[in-house]
Amino acid sequence: MEELHKPVLLSEVLEVLNPKLDETYLDLTAGYGGHASEVLDLTRNYKGSVLIDRDSFAVEFLKGKYLGEPIEIVNGDFYSSVLKIVECGKTLIWYWLILEFLLRN
Ligand SMILES: C[S@@+](CC[C@H](N)C(=O)[O-])C[C@H]1O[C@@H](n2cnc3c(N)ncnc32)[C@H](O)[C@@H]1O
Repeated sequence: MEELHKPVLLSEVLEVLNPKLDETYLDLTAGYGGHASEVLDLTRNYKGSVLIDRDSFAVEFLKGKYLGEPIEIVNGDFYSSVLKIVECGKTLIWYWLILEFLLRN
């Protein structure tokens, strides 16, 4: 599949997060899933993992990319989306606070 976005600081992100098999993953600014696919390759846990982005084009791309996988893909801003997830009682083992977003804004 065509690479739409090259994930920034990928090796640094993987070093810091150190994803392990079966861990769940929350990406608050999943975009076109560059970081997500690298992390999910290591955790191999789609059920319980959540990808959020406010860009509907990115979300449609992610839905196609993960078609058939039991991963939750949410179109919305991360603040209200996380509030909904917490309200639903979902347990998130670790959080992906998007480093690049903070660095760029
Ligand atoms: C640089 S891209 C992320 C790239 C992604 N990590 C990857 O590797 O493909 C940043 C993303 O943050 C999303 N974004 C920015 N502010 C947001 C917010 N408040 N809530 C949800 N998504 C947001 C944008 O729509 C964009 O897709």
